[in-house]
Formats: sequence, C-alpha cells, structure tokens
Amino acid sequence: MSAFICIWACFLLRISATATAATHDKTPDETVTCLVSEECHLPCMFTPAPNQSVRWFRRDVVMFSFGETQAESQALAGRATMFPPMIAGGNATLVLREVGLKDRGMYRCHVRTSEGEHSAKVVLKVEALIHGLSLELSRLSGYEEMKCTVRDVFPPPRVTWATEPPTFEDLRPITRMLADKRGLYTADSRLKVLKGQPDLIYICKVTTSYGGPTWTSSLRERTITGNEGRDLTIPCFAPPYLNSPILHWSFSKGEDPAHILTYDSRSGHSTAAPAWEHHVELDGFRVPFGDGSLRLMDPEHTRHQGTYSCIFSMPYNTHTERSDVAIDLPTANRSTSPQTSYWWIVGLVVAVTVLALTAMLVYLRLRGNAAKSSSRYPEEETELNSVRDVEGEGENSRRPAGDNNGQPGLS
Ligand SMILES: *[C@@H]1O[C@H](CO)[C@@H](O)[C@H](O)[C@H]1NC(C)=O
Repeated sequence: MSAFICIWACFLLRISATATAATHDKTPDETVTCLVSEECHLPCMFTPAPNQSVRWFRRDVVMFSFGETQAESQALAGRATMFPPMIAGGNATLVLREVGLKDRGMYRCHVRTSEGEHSAKVVLKVEALIHGLSLELSRLSGYEEMKCTVRDVFPPPRVTWATEPPTFEDLRPITRMLADKRGLYTADSRLKVLKGQPDLIYICKVTTSYGGPTWTSSLRERTITGNEGRDLTIPCFAPPYLNSPILHWSFSKGEDPAHILTYDSRSGHSTAAPAWEHHVELDGFRVPFGDGSLRLMDPEHTRHQGTYSCIFSMPYNTHTERSDVAIDLPTANRSTSPQTSYWWIVGLVVAVTVLALTAMLVYLRLRGNAAKSSSRYPEEETELNSVRDVEGEGENSRRPAGDNNGQPGLS
C-alpha cells in the first residue's frame, strides 16, 4: 500500500515538476522495462528553452550526447537515437534499438539550456518473456519421466510441478538452468512418472520473478485397444482450470501429425479434415465443460491404428492427451491373429469334452437299461412268480429286493 502511495506521489510530483517549468528540478527515478531485442525508450522530459545540450550517462560515462558536441559511445554501437525536433520541444528521450541484457542498469539524462539544467534518472530493466513450454514423456533414461522445457527466458524462470488429481506423493523434479551467450536461460525440468498411477495428469508450471502470467503445460498418456469395424471412443478430458479452450485433434503413425479436427468452444466453430470427416464425431456441447472425447467410427486396422493427440489450448495454458490406439482385426478372421487360433483351440477342447460327457451318459444309461432287462426283471419275475405261487404277502417280500437292484440303474 505504501509503495502504491509512493508511486502515485512520485508520479504527481513529476507531473507538477515538469508542468511548473522548474528548470533546476531533480525528478525521482523512473523504471522502464523493455523486452530483449526490441526497441526501448528511456524518457527525459524538460522545459524547452534555447541552446539545449543533452547528455545521457550510464555510471557517469557519457553514452550519448546532443548539442554542443554530438557523440555516441562505443557501448551503444549505433543503436541509439534522439530526434532533434523532439529535443527542441523538450523531449530528450533516448531510443535504443535491439536491447540486450547488457544494457540493463541506471541511466541519467542531463539537459542544459540557456535557462537552467535538468537531470533525470532512469532504471532500465530488460526481460525475455516466456513464449511457450514443451512437455513430453521421455523414456531415454531407462525409466519414464516427464520433461518440461522453457527456452530463452530472463530473469531465470521458476518451474514447479503438480498432478491432477493431486497426489500425496512427494514430487521430486530435477531442474537444470542454463544461460546462453546473450544471458537468456533455458530451464529443463524432469519428473519421474509415479508408479501405479497410470491415469494422472502431470502439470508443469513456469513463472518469472518479474511477474506476468503463469504458464502451464500438462500431459496425460494412455493406450487403448479397439476392434476393427466397431466404434471406439478416445477419451480426452481437460483439467478444471482450463476454461473455453480451443480443441485440436491430430493423428500420427510415427510421421508428422495430421490434422483431424479443430473446435473453438467460444465460437462453436469446428473444422475437420476431409479424410476424417466421416470417421470421427465430436460432441461440441461438451467441449466447454472440458470433455473433448472423440468417437472413431468404423475404424480400420491399417488406416486408424496409431497415436491420437488431443490438445486443449488457451493463452498461456495447454493440455495434451496422447492415446496410443491399437485396432485389432475381427475375431472371425482366424488366419491372421494368434488370438483367434487360441480361441479356436479352446472351442475344440470344450466341444470334445461335451461330446465325451454325452457319450459317457448315454453309455451309463444304456448299461443301466441292459442291467434292468437282463438281470433284474427275470429275477423279479421269478420272485413274483414264486410269490404268486406262494400266494399272499407278495408286496412285503418283493419290495426290498426290487429297491436294491433297481436304484443304481435308475439314477
Ligand atoms: C518523446 O519522444 C519519443 C521518441 O522520440 C516518443 O516516442 C515519445 O512519445 C515522446 N514523448 C512525448 C511525451 O512526446
């Protein structure tokens, strides 16, 4: 708060100082932040009066002068300009082209006119903004790791990692920072993929100490198996912090990725590549809610097996889902796939077993019938006959003998 008040007070002071035509004023420092290799304006305003001479200093060394003697120091190497008509009007702004990190520091402008002197300090900060992140899964080191890279940034960027959903495991990334000849940093941060959590989204976040937006890039990888001729949904879900993104689907078989379709959830406008138009379907209403899943219709083994990439993008944020999709041939085609011949053997074994069981049952039944007709009935008949011969109490004497003989054959 106090800093804010000071900035306002300083600003008002400066305005009043220039407006009241005080020629001996000493205005407070001004900070200018410029981008690497762009043009930069170091402001210096004074009350116009005849016989001006302007000198720009850096650490008490004259860098550029105009007036009595016009000169430019070697340090600026022809990159500095001042415009005489502007100076006549009280504007001694120094224009510096192709700014580099070596230009950072405190500058002072000193103006002398027939009516007095004016001096102002300008602090020049130089930064190189983040232009983008790259995040990829690397298997080069023998294990799977996520690799996040950001190039040509100043001041040195800060890289942090997160997962979605959040994990309780301690993420231990290794981040290397390297500066090039110009003083710009490249950060390379690697995080080992967590074991036993296949569906995690890995998020790499990058910021710089000068402020500005936080950049994020996130990635999820998966493998999917489908069947030829059977519709397949390739899932793609954005993390919750991405609002109204642009969705882009592409396909690759190891070569350069080919465009499938693009959907802008703000305008609802979608474009599909002609080759894919009749093979894919996207529910546009679900995209603003983070569901960009793609339906692959009537897929073919030869044409549609490969890697599908889905990218949700917004300013400063991207989320990528990469699916390795295998399209198996139909199971009826037994000659091409080892899996079909395996099932054929299983079927044969089952059929043989069923046949054997049926044969055994039939055999047992036949044997039982044979036993009934050959041994039991004659015995019973003779018994019955003998019982009938004996007369009376025939049922009591016949039943135990009949039950014992009949049971194994009947069951
Ligand atoms: C002063 O001059 C610079 C460059 O010559 C120009 O960009 C700037 O707008 C001028 N400032 C004012 C207040 O006229």
